[in-house]
Formats: sequence, C-alpha cells, structure tokens
Amino acid sequence: MADVWELPIIAPSSKERLGYPTQKPEALLERIIKASSNEGDVILDACCGCGTTVAVSQKLNRQWIGIDITYQSISLILKRLKNESEDGKVLDNVEISGVPRDFESAIALANKSDDKTRKEFEKWMVLRYSDNQVIINEKKGGDGGIDGIAYITHNHEREIKKVIFSVKSNVKLSPAVLRELNGAVERENAAIGILLTLYPMPNLVKDSNQYGLYFNEFNRRDYQKIQVVCVDDIFNGAFMVLPNV
Ligand SMILES: C[S@@+](CC[C@H](N)C(=O)[O-])C[C@H]1O[C@@H](n2cnc3c(N)ncnc32)[C@H](O)[C@@H]1O
Repeated sequence: MADVWELPIIAPSSKERLGYPTQKPEALLERIIKASSNEGDVILDACCGCGTTVAVSQKLNRQWIGIDITYQSISLILKRLKNESEDGKVLDNVEISGVPRDFESAIALANKSDDKTRKEFEKWMVLRYSDNQVIINEKKGGDGGIDGIAYITHNHEREIKKVIFSVKSNVKLSPAVLRELNGAVERENAAIGILLTLYPMPNLVKDSNQYGLYFNEFNRRDYQKIQVVCVDDIFNGAFMVLPNV
C-alpha cells in the first residue's frame, strides 16, 4: 500500500453526509479499524464528533467507546446508530454515561458554573424529549429564547410548520414566560410552543390551556398550542407527540 491513502470524499448528496463539519468518510475509518484491530476488540474515539468511528466499529463487530463534550454529538450518534440498525435494537446494547438520569443529576447539569456546560442542559433536555428530532438553535439570544425547533407537516400540500422549544431551569417562573413563548410562536408563524422546565410548574401547566389549540390538517387532530413539560415528566416517560416530524 502506498504511503498516501486516496479515498473518495463524501459526496454532497450522499446519504452518509450528516452535516457535521469535520465528518470523515466511513471508508477511512474502516481501513484504520480493520488494519489495527480484530473483531471483539475495543475501539476508543475520545472526541468522537458525529460518530463515524463508532458507527464503523459497530458494523465491523468491534466494541467501542465514544466520548464527546457536547450532547449534540451524542444525540447525533444515537440517531445515526438507530437509523443504521436494521431492527432499531442496537441502542439496547449502548450504555450512555455522563447525562442526567434523574432529577438530581439534571439539576447538577443545569447549575454548572460555566455557561458552556450549563447550555448542555438545554440541549440535552430538548434532544432527550424529542428523541433527537429537534434542531438546536445555536443563535439563542437574538432569537427570543428559542432553544430548538422541530419541523412538522401541516397539511397534505406538505406545508411545513415550526414547533418552538424553550428551556428554563429557573426554580420559579411567572406566567409571563408563557406569554413570551406564545409571542415567539406568533412571530415565527409556528404551530406549537413547548416550554421545557427543570422544576415542575403546575401553575404554568394550568395556564397553558388558555392559549388554545393548533389544528393539524394532515392528521386532522388538535394539539395544545402551548405545552409545558418538566424534567420529571420526561423521566416518567413523557416524550414529544407531534404530527409527522
Ligand atoms: C473534529 S471533531 C470529531 C472528529 C471525529 N473523531 C472524527 O474523526 O470524525 C472533534 C470533536 O471533539 C469534541 N471535543 C472537543 N473538546 C473535547 C473534550 N475536551 N472532550 C471530549 N470531546 C471534545 C467536539 O465536540 C467535536 O465533536
């Protein structure tokens, strides 16, 4: 073999392309992994990004450990493994460490002293609730508290509408937060706004009813326009129920 490896890049239209800026072709990782390990060995990628090493290790019957500092990356890898698995069961054998497993660990992540790690709480909550189907809004601040967006099919003409997610880790929240979210929904011409809170907010759950319903013409069903979900709800099995995400 020559000392320069020539491998095709991932074509812009390729299904393999995930939009991760530093994504490597699977063919490259396949060559490295095959050349340096046997089936059953453990492959480690300590900064695993969109998980090419992980996905190829899985295909080549290696055990693997992938580490990344941002939950977005972990979310993308979970989605990638699920999509690539024939029966969708691959995730049954994946152990995830370092993400909240209960209310206390969610509080710990939300209260980290540095801004960047604290932001991981917001990403984790949006992605966990949506089973990794929401796109994280990176430019929060200029965007009125929108942390994530899901896109749903509104009608049979395939018109797309947004569902807006906002995460709040405050101990107390006033009804103004619902008004703000409703304002963002109106401004963005979105269908639904979902407020994800760290602490249970029974007062807001009650108030959220007053914003009425969104009617999805595609599956002819009503959805509450403003919804409120807390971390405990999620640990108790609540998950995003939206039409045709
Ligand atoms: C170049 S990308 C991923 C490359 C990947 N190994 C590949 O070959 O496709 C680097 C990744 O490292 C992650 N990262 C940066 N600092 C890190 C740290 N201290 N611990 C773990 N991951 C980190 C970033 O979030 C990013 O996803």
